[in-house]
Amino acid sequence: MQTAPHVPCSMSPSSELAKRFVDCRAQTERLTAQLSPEDCQAQSMPDASPIKWHLAHTTWFFETFILERFEPLLGKAFTPHRPAFRVLFNSYYNGVGDKHPRPQRGLVTRPSLHEVKDYRVAINQRVAALLEAQSALSQVDQRELTELVTLGINHEQQHQELILTDLKHLLSMNPLRPVYAPSWPLVTVKPEPAQWLTYEAGLYSIGHDSPDQFAFDNESPRHQVYLNAFELATHPVTYGEFAAFIDAGGYQKHELWLSLGWDWVQRERIDKPMYWHKSVSGWQTFTLHGLVDIEANTPVAHISYFEADAYARWVGARLPTEAEWEVAAQASLKASDGAVIAAGNFVDGNVLHPLAARSARLPQCHQHLFGDVWEWTQSSYAPYPGFKAAEGAVGEYNGKFMCNQYVLRGGSCATPRDHIRASYRNFFPADARWQFSGLRLARD
Ligand SMILES: [Fe+2]
Repeated sequence: MQTAPHVPCSMSPSSELAKRFVDCRAQTERLTAQLSPEDCQAQSMPDASPIKWHLAHTTWFFETFILERFEPLLGKAFTPHRPAFRVLFNSYYNGVGDKHPRPQRGLVTRPSLHEVKDYRVAINQRVAALLEAQSALSQVDQRELTELVTLGINHEQQHQELILTDLKHLLSMNPLRPVYAPSWPLVTVKPEPAQWLTYEAGLYSIGHDSPDQFAFDNESPRHQVYLNAFELATHPVTYGEFAAFIDAGGYQKHELWLSLGWDWVQRERIDKPMYWHKSVSGWQTFTLHGLVDIEANTPVAHISYFEADAYARWVGARLPTEAEWEVAAQASLKASDGAVIAAGNFVDGNVLHPLAARSARLPQCHQHLFGDVWEWTQSSYAPYPGFKAAEGAVGEYNGKFMCNQYVLRGGSCATPRDHIRASYRNFFPADARWQFSGLRLARD
């Protein structure tokens, strides 16, 4: 892959928030620095976006929701960087106005990648200037500015993950099997067999409850749930275990599948997880490091809700509910003093593929609950009791998607470590597979 001209994020941060802003923007540029303009242009499917679009849209978010609002409060008339960008890089905010159709993002050959990088630099400088001058704002406005910049940073982190998963899908479509990261850091390890950890029936609390820590609105309000006694596996399901499901004819047995899932398997002719290839030596999978032999002990990734559910039924188990998952995560974090989060494999480690748990750390802890693969839950993505979306266009961030999607928990090998927490709710439709999505078994 060619090296595109890299436009660095070169502001001097004057506050903790400004530093986090600079670091986040620089991380996006690091992830994409080695990509050619052609790599950044193409769109491989309607669900995925071109890298150039991600670079522009994350910038649009800061321009639209922060500069437009706060620059006039400092006596400066807001001038859009380029008026056309307002529509071009609006993802789904009807409150902002028109949007360019998502499936046609790859057709936007202009502005060029260079112009998008210039856009990033210009908006970086304006946000930095705004943060520098924020003491001239009222206390209320300063608090709101902090909240919106923090939201913008977390939004950009979500797009950093999408950059990697969209890029992986794009590269997988190329018969040359291009490599994004040339080194292959995966070491073969033999983890201990999965066990079950038991949780008593009772009333538990889930949801975000820490006013000092950022969380998306869909994680609140914290509320009580009653759970029957349940068990959750110590380890996620592995590639090797999933290969056994394929060998046993799992994709051909209608009795294992939900009705919609069986329709999907038949219609799309699905007979293996996404990115799997059969070679003479066995199963291989496409990764951001190219095509590699499957490592049997690593957590299986790139399966749909339907596949996760069918596998669980095949072994006589089920998917956990999101409340069960969160209760187990709270218990694991408590038992390990928060070390479980650090134990997982996040984008920070640059492995970019799920890793097998090396060894049991603490007997009462789940392995790799955070990082490696997002874990499908059986819970529909729905509002928590008392949920209220924020006022205005920014309130469209999460709430309006609470229909026909399922919750995934725990983050993946493409998630920034400081982005994830026990109450975090990701969500995708039941047939989505291009994220690093896997499963962990539960049973009654
Ligand atoms: Fe977005």
